[in-house]
Amino acid sequence: MKVRRKGIMKRFLPRTLFGRSLIIVVAPIILLQMVTTYIFFDRHWNRMTGRLAFAVAGETAILADQFESDPPPETVQRIAGYASRNLELLIGFDRGGTLQTVDREHSGWDSIVASMLAGALENQVRRPFEIAVDIEDKWVSIGVQLTNGVLHVTLPQGRLFSSSGYIFLLWMFGTSIVLIVIAILFMRNQVRPIRRLAVAAERFGKGRDVPAFKPEGAHEVRQAARAFLEMHERVRRQIEQRTAMLAGVSHDLRTPLTRLKLQLAMLGDSPDVQACKADIEVMERMIQGYLDFARGEAGEVATRTDIARMLERLVAAAKREGADIVLSVQGDPGASIRPLAFERCLMNVVANARRFGTTVWINAAATEEAIEIAVDDNGPGVPEERYEDVFKPFFRLDSSRNVETGGVGLGLPIAMDVIHSHGGRIWLEKSKHGGLRVVMTVPR
Ligand SMILES: Nc1ncnc2c1ncn2[C@@H]1O[C@H](COP(=O)(O)OP(=O)(O)OP(=O)(O)O)[C@@H](O)[C@H]1O
Ligand SMILES: [Mg+2]
Repeated sequence: MKVRRKGIMKRFLPRTLFGRSLIIVVAPIILLQMVTTYIFFDRHWNRMTGRLAFAVAGETAILADQFESDPPPETVQRIAGYASRNLELLIGFDRGGTLQTVDREHSGWDSIVASMLAGALENQVRRPFEIAVDIEDKWVSIGVQLTNGVLHVTLPQGRLFSSSGYIFLLWMFGTSIVLIVIAILFMRNQVRPIRRLAVAAERFGKGRDVPAFKPEGAHEVRQAARAFLEMHERVRRQIEQRTAMLAGVSHDLRTPLTRLKLQLAMLGDSPDVQACKADIEVMERMIQGYLDFARGEAGEVATRTDIARMLERLVAAAKREGADIVLSVQGDPGASIRPLAFERCLMNVVANARRFGTTVWINAAATEEAIEIAVDDNGPGVPEERYEDVFKPFFRLDSSRNVETGGVGLGLPIAMDVIHSHGGRIWLEKSKHGGLRVVMTVPR
């Protein structure tokens, strides 16, 4: 039950900060207006209109009594003059006449006023009557059937109806619309810096360059933006340092290694020398791996790249080397990536698949927000409990470090580094072709 209620709340609450804060401001205004309007109409306006109707009905009742006693014409004149001067009532007496039924179709305020007046007349006059409301000329006329004729009473609408209700509502809605507009403008300015920060953080997470922006907005937002920019700078510097160091060390190690190799070459061809040579070969490949990795990372900027074309190139090159690779692409997998690093990642994964299987299947699919690339092979695969280990640097399932069965153990760690720096994910699965399935996703 609790869960469901939360779901309903979520469904009706706007999802953006802008929408939510607007609701926080607007909802009380609307609620207040509804309550005020209700109280105003129920208590004040209705009661006042009722009293006005009561007064008019009372006066009409007195007039009806007077006219029913068959007064002489002078008295009729006197009463009419008296009523028009003091009560704003125009009197007409149709001696011997009968009441004409009029079309009683009122709408809006007039219908409320008319029905209140009708109720009051019924109570006080206690004779058949008709009411006609002339909205345009703002007149109300009442006809009452007396025993000796028809009494016509015409009065201005102002005697029955107070326009202060209209004015009150107009002011109330007018001011609240002004308030809401001001709130919208103000809120937009408050939300903009937060949105900018969110976009920057998202770009950073995906490994794209973050445009410099000035911290703006409320104090807390500015503080968060400043902290983000500092963090971004620190991380950038760290990556730079790491790659520079890696490249430096690898480069420097090459020279003594070359020297060692030369010295070994002069030592002849004993089994010990052979073993040393093999070790040196491994070291050289490691160093090459570091250098490739460092080169891929350093300073490469993300650009919009057609991943399908990149895969086709890779597959064509592998086929020339005699590999059996099946490529299938769904959708249009274009994304903002760092092409060298990304190609290195793909190459590492495909190289593994080629080494361990005889056939490789590459499947790329583009969805709205991500590109998914899966590389399958029909090799022996990796036991599930080793899925995490193979991403660790220098880890190999075959611990003999045989050059034939594997490399240095940096292929997958580098691939993971590249994918993560693009804000993507990489994981292993069991392939339906029997071997290993490596799945990579990157946001577009
Ligand atoms: N497709 C695969 N099938 C079976 N085992 C695999 C597969 N891919 C990787 N592995 C296992 O994971 C280990 C680590 O792979 P990784 O690519 O990191 O290193 P490597 O291939 O041994 O060396 P490098 O790629 O640096 O030359 C491999 O040694 C291998 O044991
Ligand atoms: Mg490898």
